[in-house]
Amino acid sequence: MTPATKSIDMQPTAHLRLVSDRAGDASGIKLSGVSKTYRTRDGDVPSLRPLDFHINDGEFFVVVGPSGCGKSTLLKLISGLLPPTSGEILVDGEKVTAPHGNVGIVFQNALLLPWRNILNNVMLPIDMKRLARQKYLDRAKALLKLVGLEGFERKLPWQLSGGMQQRASICRALVHDPGIMLMDEPFGALDALTRERMNVELMRIQRETKKTVLLITHSIPEAVFLADRVLVMTERPGAIAAIYDVPLPRPRSLDVMADPVFTELVQRIRKHFFSQGALD
Ligand SMILES: Nc1ncnc2c1ncn2[C@@H]1O[C@H](COP(=O)(O)OP(=O)(O)OP(=O)(O)O)[C@@H](O)[C@H]1O
Ligand SMILES: [Mg+2]
Repeated sequence: MTPATKSIDMQPTAHLRLVSDRAGDASGIKLSGVSKTYRTRDGDVPSLRPLDFHINDGEFFVVVGPSGCGKSTLLKLISGLLPPTSGEILVDGEKVTAPHGNVGIVFQNALLLPWRNILNNVMLPIDMKRLARQKYLDRAKALLKLVGLEGFERKLPWQLSGGMQQRASICRALVHDPGIMLMDEPFGALDALTRERMNVELMRIQRETKKTVLLITHSIPEAVFLADRVLVMTERPGAIAAIYDVPLPRPRSLDVMADPVFTELVQRIRKHFFSQGALD
């Protein structure tokens, strides 16, 4: 057995977390006892059980879990769009009490404004924050080039394919240079080939920009391919079933999916879902 294989052949326990996260470090995202119960007219809907974990600065952190277990809720709590029912969230040591500026969010569908061209859609956060337009225009164009959309700046969203629109929405999340990217199943609507290309592109962007990324996905192979660590959630109300290190070196190409370390880890994570139905 190779050392790399050994390092994933372990039980998903607190030991993993001690090894791999810098829990004492104030940078990154820290959740302490964070739970969420939605109060509705029909009664309470417990969505998340109290969660404790830490996402390191610059880490690529991926969450998988069954439908309805509270993944989108978790993302909304971290972004400050929703308040937790209990516990606290610290981003770089500061308590989250409202939406904060250091975050870029990519939702499941691209959500581009149909009347704005692609460049102006990417510039939306700059306009909303009333930042100096001129200063960010070059950056917006450079990001579009980075994701292969050079020449499409003046097109309207409907003139682009779904995958191209999703790439534009990633540029929009990056344009104000946030330290943190929160991505909720960003590639769920894409065909398999485009999705693989997007995975490679996203990994490159993260390496080049050194962002902290929290990405939610239903695809276990996608999770293992992208992540430094994968958090597996239980069914609703969501709790942490396990956190796995992904000991595959970077940069990674799609060939890594044939690596025994990759396939073993995918299998191990998939086992969590045997009792809960298929995940991907
Ligand atoms: N605004 C809301 N009011 C009441 N209940 C809600 C609200 N939003 C979500 N829920 C409930 O909370 C639970 C978790 O929802 P959430 O959207 O976070 O799940 P998810 O893990 O993102 O699911 P999926 O994988 O299908 O996107 C679900 O049972 C859902 O019905
Ligand atoms: Mg969701």
